[in-house]
Amino acid sequence: MTSHPTTAPAMVHGLDPSIPGHLPAHLAVIMDGNGRWAKARGLPRIEGHRRGLEALRNLVRAADQRGIRFVTVYSFSSENWRRPAEEVSELLGLLRYFIRQDVADLSARNVRIRIIGRRDDLPDDIGSLLREAETSTAQNTGLTLIIAFNYGARDELLRATQSLAARVADGGLAVSELTEQHLSDALDTSGLPDPDLLIRTSGEVRLSNFLMWQLAYTELVFLPIAWPDFDAAALDGALIEFSHRQRRFGGLNEETAGQARGQG
Ligand code: IPE
Ligand code: IPE
Ligand code: MG
Repeated sequence: MTSHPTTAPAMVHGLDPSIPGHLPAHLAVIMDGNGRWAKARGLPRIEGHRRGLEALRNLVRAADQRGIRFVTVYSFSSENWRRPAEEVSELLGLLRYFIRQDVADLSARNVRIRIIGRRDDLPDDIGSLLREAETSTAQNTGLTLIIAFNYGARDELLRATQSLAARVADGGLAVSELTEQHLSDALDTSGLPDPDLLIRTSGEVRLSNFLMWQLAYTELVFLPIAWPDFDAAALDGALIEFSHRQRRFGGLNEETAGQARGQG
């Protein structure tokens, strides 16, 4: 990829980024359907994953152009280790390739990278690559790209519970003082706003263990297309759908919605 100067937010017909709440500040994406995309074309599954990486590159560019501040993508789940060893190793290879190939260019476009998911059971070289991607982009102030790798919401909640339990056990925190904020801060996503919009491609209508705490009030859009076919037009369709949704956060009007939105 070549480096591109930052452009002004693109105006998409029917979308007005100047209206508060019209555009999601945080978009989460379950990039699903790579294998079926490949199978339908008589190609090996890895070819679907390679084309999926192209779709991810296009997503980041398009989201940035539209003024979206945070994009979280599900790229490998804690359950994806159940796949054949060959596919797992190809997916790890694709992650290595992506970090080596794309991080410098993303950084030149002011993108900050953050990785969520369990680190301790990943191969050592991947651990270092992930740390490097985060540290080398930490000072950037543009779009934050959050990559969920070896991520599962149950695993994340378990690790958060363990860290809070350890603080209680050593006397640093009283059980009666525990708040939602403590749990939020103990998750991999600490400090990030909750997603406003979740898109899942491939036609599957489930969360597959993605961000279960953070998605409590997120608007959900399920698209029938496979991830490699996802493009800027598909993104705009989902954004327009989002702009028509009325978010209430349990309240009755926009005022309570605004208050809820302000919470971490
Ligand atoms: C999503 O595509 C990518 C990963 C889960 C790594 P899939 O590989 O799940 O593709 P399908 O769902 O089998 O078509
Ligand atoms: C979810 O897709 C994980 C990623 C997209 C990385 P899966 O393909 O693993 O989900 P299931 O197995 O169909 O629920
Ligand atoms: Mg799948």
